[in-house]
Amino acid sequence: MGLDNRTCLITGSSRGIGRGIAEELASEGAQVVVNYRASAGAAEDVVAEITEAGGEAIASQADVTDEEEIDAMREEIHDAFGPVDVLVNNAGINVDTLFEEMTRAEWDRVIEVDLTGAFVCSKAFFDDIKAAEHGRLINISSVVGKQGNLGQANYAAAKSGMFGLTRTLALELAKSGSTANCVAPGFTATQMVTGIPERVQERIRSGIPLGRFATVEEVAAVVRFVASDEASYMTGEVLDVNGGMDL
Ligand SMILES: NC(=O)c1ccc[n+]([C@@H]2O[C@H](COP(=O)([O-])OP(=O)(O)OC[C@H]3O[C@@H](n4cnc5c(N)ncnc54)[C@H](OP(=O)(O)O)[C@@H]3O)[C@@H](O)[C@H]2O)c1
Repeated sequence: MGLDNRTCLITGSSRGIGRGIAEELASEGAQVVVNYRASAGAAEDVVAEITEAGGEAIASQADVTDEEEIDAMREEIHDAFGPVDVLVNNAGINVDTLFEEMTRAEWDRVIEVDLTGAFVCSKAFFDDIKAAEHGRLINISSVVGKQGNLGQANYAAAKSGMFGLTRTLALELAKSGSTANCVAPGFTATQMVTGIPERVQERIRSGIPLGRFATVEEVAAVVRFVASDEASYMTGEVLDVNGGMDL
């Protein structure tokens, strides 16, 4: 299979898009690390599903904003599978409110998890990815990072910041042959979106040319491609998976 013997760490993969990516990469033969912050039971369910399907996975707790926990996770992964070949910075949160109401704490929290978390994890696994024969660093951004969105100044800034981070890491990784890319999903049917009031969901759907939210499988398929050898000459790019929202 395409990712045989590759170790893939997906941050925040106890549910939603991260879970979809973990299952997709495992189905390609990867040894998968299901990272989570608090949802231990859900992460163990993902591991069970992967192993029952014949794949290899472990769950590993670490808050992406906590360097000590990330260092401990790196040790755990090295002991279980060896160095990481593919890092997917997927963990993310949103704390939405109109800019005029947004507090400094709400701004800081989202920047901390969604952007600084990607910095912390990229730093912790940079040497692994550089040394890997087919190293891949994949940041999960968002269409909101390109377009902005009402009530999401903090989230849009974090997701937009990922574009600059990715392009710079792509340049700094290039000599090693490893790549860094962004996948920018549009609205995807996960807890992050299904928690929005139905009338707001309807308004969002009406602005999507394809007329529906993405499934996690549709996003995971693009990540699988970026992680594969077929994507070896693509670096510093943003792959949009947004149902035509840019048109
Ligand atoms: N859904 C969308 O429409 C959409 C669109 C574009 C981009 N995205 C992006 O895609 C990513 C996944 O979104 P999702 O919709 O799948 O979200 P979700 O269903 O809310 O899942 C978020 C995941 O991140 C983990 N997480 C949160 N904070 C963490 C932290 N500090 N450290 C480690 N793990 C943490 C959660 O685990 P715990 O419960 O254990 O904290 C959970 O596994 C996010 O970066 C999001 O911004 C989503």
